[in-house]
Amino acid sequence: MAKVLIVYATDYGNTKKMAESFFKGVSSVKGAEPIMQEAEKASKEAVRDCDALVLGTPVHMGACDWRIKKFIDTICSALWMKDVMVGRVGAVFASGSGFGNSAGGAELALLSMLNNLVELGLIIIPLPKNTEGYDVAGLQWGPYGRSAGIHMEQTGVGEEQLVSSFHHGKQVARATLHLKGNKIFSKE
Ligand SMILES: Cc1cc2nc3c(=O)[nH]c(=O)nc-3n(C[C@H](O)[C@H](O)[C@H](O)COP(=O)(O)O)c2cc1C
Repeated sequence: MAKVLIVYATDYGNTKKMAESFFKGVSSVKGAEPIMQEAEKASKEAVRDCDALVLGTPVHMGACDWRIKKFIDTICSALWMKDVMVGRVGAVFASGSGFGNSAGGAELALLSMLNNLVELGLIIIPLPKNTEGYDVAGLQWGPYGRSAGIHMEQTGVGEEQLVSSFHHGKQVARATLHLKGNKIFSKE
């Protein structure tokens, strides 16, 4: 069984919706088990025992939410010290309001989490543009659901914006099954 741990933060539920569709995508793959935890309640044991770690954040001032960073600094850093996570799988997603026609720092928010996942030694699964739903809610780094229109009117992340996170859940689950037990970074 490949365990995919989805850790997310949310204030208004948009990122949670994306986490739920990612969860469903993982569950649809035989042999994969999704686990979903809010960043502030996430446990070190769940991280230590997972085969893939997926982070989801609202875009906050062009970066990830502080609860995600706290999770990384308090829970993941102890595992980083001992290289526990090296060779496992990592992925990210985000929700943001954007501004006008711009994504309001969504790429930076995704990259700010990817940077930390790479530091842990995870093998990152990108979001190729041929992924279903990418054209509506995708960036090459991961699913990005926009929760507001060009005038900042709050629309919330709608159903069609959840398609890419569902399919990325599948992709990450398949990659995790494929890579579980890999010896890419072995010293042998
Ligand atoms: C403190 C704060 C800062 C934010 N900064 C940004 C930002 O820089 N860019 C952006 O696109 N949206 C920004 N937003 C909007 C949220 O990212 C957006 O509403 C998101 O969908 C909320 O996700 P949630 O419902 O999971 O909390 C910000 C929201 C808050 C509360």
